[in-house]
Amino acid sequence: MRYISIKYLQPCFTAFLVITMSGFTASAQQTIPLETADNVLVLQIDQTKRLNTLYLGAKLANTTDYALIGDARSSTADFTGMFRSAYTPAGSRNVLEPAISVTHADGNNSLDLQYVSHESKKLAADISLLSIRLKDPAYNFEVTLFYKSYYEENVIEQWCTITSGEKGTVTLQKFASANLNLQAKHYWLRQYHGDWAKEMRPDETELTHGIKTLDSKLGTRANLLMPSVFMISLDQPATEDAGQVLFGALEWSGNFRTDLEIDPQENLRVISGINNYASAYQLKPGETFETPAFVYTFSAKGKGPASRNLHNWARNYKLLDGKGTRLTLLNNWESTYFDFNESRLSGLLKDTHNLGVDLFLLDDGWFGNAYPRNSDHAGLGDWQENRRKLPNGIAEIAKTAQADGVKFGIWVEPEMVNPQSDLYHRHPDWVIKQPQRDEYYFRNQLVLDLSNAQVQDFVFHTVDSLFIKDPGLAYIKWDCNSVIYNAYSVKLGNLQSQFYVDYVRGLYNVLKRLRSKYPVVPMMLCSGGGGRVDYGALQYFTEYWPSDNTDPLERIFIQWEYSYFYPAIASANHVTDWGKQSLKYRVDAAMMGKLGFDIVVSKLSPVDLKFCQDAVAAYNGIKAVVWQGDQFRLANPDQGSVASMLYVKPDQTCAVMFNYLVNFRYGEGSHSPILLKGLDAAKRYRVKEINLYPGVKPVIDEQKSYSGDFLGKIGINPVVTNERSSVVLLINESNQ
Ligand code: GLA
Repeated sequence: MRYISIKYLQPCFTAFLVITMSGFTASAQQTIPLETADNVLVLQIDQTKRLNTLYLGAKLANTTDYALIGDARSSTADFTGMFRSAYTPAGSRNVLEPAISVTHADGNNSLDLQYVSHESKKLAADISLLSIRLKDPAYNFEVTLFYKSYYEENVIEQWCTITSGEKGTVTLQKFASANLNLQAKHYWLRQYHGDWAKEMRPDETELTHGIKTLDSKLGTRANLLMPSVFMISLDQPATEDAGQVLFGALEWSGNFRTDLEIDPQENLRVISGINNYASAYQLKPGETFETPAFVYTFSAKGKGPASRNLHNWARNYKLLDGKGTRLTLLNNWESTYFDFNESRLSGLLKDTHNLGVDLFLLDDGWFGNAYPRNSDHAGLGDWQENRRKLPNGIAEIAKTAQADGVKFGIWVEPEMVNPQSDLYHRHPDWVIKQPQRDEYYFRNQLVLDLSNAQVQDFVFHTVDSLFIKDPGLAYIKWDCNSVIYNAYSVKLGNLQSQFYVDYVRGLYNVLKRLRSKYPVVPMMLCSGGGGRVDYGALQYFTEYWPSDNTDPLERIFIQWEYSYFYPAIASANHVTDWGKQSLKYRVDAAMMGKLGFDIVVSKLSPVDLKFCQDAVAAYNGIKAVVWQGDQFRLANPDQGSVASMLYVKPDQTCAVMFNYLVNFRYGEGSHSPILLKGLDAAKRYRVKEINLYPGVKPVIDEQKSYSGDFLGKIGINPVVTNERSSVVLLINESNQ
């Protein structure tokens, strides 16, 4: 038996070491373990050269034991020999949901994939790339599976390339990114659904036999009804600190599909990728199709570590400028909507300065002349400043902002068009609509055809021209409000089934071009709220807009669920007039991420204004801990009357604890201490209440000091009550 462990490629080795294996003999069973700090994925090539998954879970102490897993775990017969395929081809002997399905150039629908070779490269101290080449013995058709592993973060990104060497065109009917295999007695799925202002509503249920599919067919704003993120707990529902759990997400901003199928051996097969709905893809001779990555992490110690794995990975490697800083801001959407002019904006610029935030963000309504953008019925596509509202253009606003000592940012929705626009009339062929059917609108608008390179140029230049007009432009809010109805591209002609894939590729082309010219300008990923939050897009964006629902009580729940998958630095949270909670509650909730405001500052009472100004200053003192700290969920709002979230600085010298009342019935509150996590048991800490409303005295005694051990085992009661419905505690290491 030949055996190779890529463990030896982990950090101790020098960079770019490559190990290649091939020439495999048919009688041997070769094991390929892919290790991270805590976990291992063990693949095995069987006697017939098919690649299977043996195990995905906590690492074993002895790497030599990996080869024994296969025998130890076989249960009922696998009469197909395919149940555990690492990438299940359709049409040969598979009888379950395939990962890939193709129609060859000769019309044949069968595919077999056999191991050819594999290679492991060390890309950096923390990152390895394993690639495994598979080939159909009967057709000149290949798939290479890629596993990019992040050792310290326990994260794997998995994708594949599909290459045809056939003489004619091959049609890809299904082309998943990953095909995982998990083994347990029970599987619990936590999935999400939503709608406008109702993002990230969870369902957690036990999976039964058959296939459960999570998917989107919306094209754009693809997560409106369902995002691609999910969790699977093995045996029983994982808690924050216990249980085996896998978190997964597709890095793709369009239609996705994840099938979860319990196979006849009670294993769970997870197949995730671009949704093949209406998306058969043509591969010409010599062409390669690359799937997006499916990212996942596993934790044997509950959801908390799994979420911190993803946070670390995102900040280190995926989210744009994940280790960088962010700008606090004042937005004018809810304070003016479409109704503003130069003088009103110059008042808002002064308010921005007065509040103490970094930037003023001008929202929707600044453009369109023949069809002015005075409501959401007109103007999208005509990205010239409205001459009545802004006679001197955005350059003038930017100049005033500079004079006021604040930065300037602007809203765009460049993928969209209103039928009431010049653009719509000039370029009907750029608009996605069925030539023979009535137009049907979502928010009175249609989507531009980003599969068309000319449209990509237009979208690029729309944003580029803003930077040309205002070289100091410091922020973009990129919106995408509409789903795609009547999917049809004039450009694609008889290749309509490539439309959904080519749209997203076109979008990424534009974003890549923008990022090569403007590498770090912060950009907010917005989609009528959180309709497009995914790691495919977040590599180009510094933050996302979780929801238009900014009622802070709602946000406690929404942000809680997002926080499993995305780090706080990426969550743009604005203080608005939504909800019935106090100003303090609203500000505290918005501080659990990147703070912004969308209120009429000039109408705040002097004491409210003072509170906000102090809060901005306090936030500047703690933001590094919120953005880069380790996040611990202490009290779940779904399970009690109080929600509590903790961010701990990695060196454990400082932490910030946010506590909220989420049930306002009589007498509800934090009646007992909440246990802190992530602190150093040996250190001593003092606890101080911050963000107090002017004149309000703290209840927590700042003079007492506690050991980390005490705070972890006995805890501290933030004294959350109806009168103190929101309490923020700063926990600092103290010498006594
Ligand atoms: C979407 C966004 C809002 C706002 C409006 C402007 O709904 O989510 O924040 O920018 O568009 O039209």
